[in-house]
Amino acid sequence: MASEIIQLELRKFVSPEYIFGIDARLMVANYCKQLGGRTVLLVSDAGIAKTPWLKEIENILKSQAINFHVFLNVSPNPRDFEVMEGVEVYLKNQCNLIIALGGGSVMDCAKGIGIVSTNGGTIDMYEGVDKINKPMPPLICIPTTAGTAADLSQFAIINRYNERYKMAIISKATVPDVALIDPFVLTTMDSFLTACTGMDALSHAFEAYVSNASSAFTDLYAIEAVKLIIHNLNASVEYPNNLQLRGKVMLGSLYAGLAFSNASLGCVHSMAHSLGGYLDLPHGECNAIILPHVVDFNYSSATEKYSNLSAAMGCCNKSTKKTDARKQLVNFLIDFRNSVNIKSTLGSNGVKPDIIPTLASKAINDPCNATNPRPPCKLDLECIYKEAI
Ligand SMILES: [Fe+2]
Repeated sequence: MASEIIQLELRKFVSPEYIFGIDARLMVANYCKQLGGRTVLLVSDAGIAKTPWLKEIENILKSQAINFHVFLNVSPNPRDFEVMEGVEVYLKNQCNLIIALGGGSVMDCAKGIGIVSTNGGTIDMYEGVDKINKPMPPLICIPTTAGTAADLSQFAIINRYNERYKMAIISKATVPDVALIDPFVLTTMDSFLTACTGMDALSHAFEAYVSNASSAFTDLYAIEAVKLIIHNLNASVEYPNNLQLRGKVMLGSLYAGLAFSNASLGCVHSMAHSLGGYLDLPHGECNAIILPHVVDFNYSSATEKYSNLSAAMGCCNKSTKKTDARKQLVNFLIDFRNSVNIKSTLGSNGVKPDIIPTLASKAINDPCNATNPRPPCKLDLECIYKEAI
């Protein structure tokens, strides 16, 4: 009998149906019909409207005689009032299905539109965990970035614009019906977006792996995600048209998404949500800056798990002394971030020391802290922000 102990605490795993591979996006009309779509709200944004992908999806829907209305009013870090504008378009046109074509912002906004269109009220009423009573309309996601994994996850992140923070809505009701995950659409992503979204995926995998709610099955996905991202993100930034590289990073994002959707996240994300809402900064860049500092803070509470992550990345082996291993891992993550050209700090992004208490007071209320391996207090978050400034 093997002596290794397995975890027997209760754990669940939720995943939508997903199709991964070149041309997955072209199946959109089939799924629309399968899900009973009569009139579709097609949510995207101005950036995607400049690529070939929006026209292509529109043409597919037209060719199959599926009615649709396009909603493009989505900002990076999607705002609560944009969700409400989308709800108006959805209800006015009597839509009964949503397609989201875009990155995390578009998919989160589409989820917000879906939540309010069936549950009523305003989107801020659904902040927190398990606050949604009625299912959303059917939602098909076609991600155009490799990182956010909103196409798979139980999360929707919406910017409460006047309050200047990003709220987390976490519920099984936000899991899309189908994700069409097509690496081909990544070829129009620029190098900065590729790097930022890749670092977001890496942060998902790291946080899910050390999460208090991790399980044997989320661990499998998280470790594989880390390997795929660490070994392919640099080259993917350098060779944007290489479909093998794009596919590997997208698979890494998919695995990280399945891991974090079920194991949840930690302080990297609670702090990034607060930062992104207050200063309207790219989510992946915030994560890339904060991740090494949170690893440093958490290390002693999840030593074995961090040592497994280090081994998976090839940054040190199990015989490395604990104090050296911690430093090596933190430095490895900083070097990796630099290698994909994310060289900014919080200071260079306009964070001044006097706003740190405000950032920490918003971050400490974020539900992502609940699964961080070392429970933080507000002062801890202030210290981490200071280190990253
Ligand atoms: Fe994220």
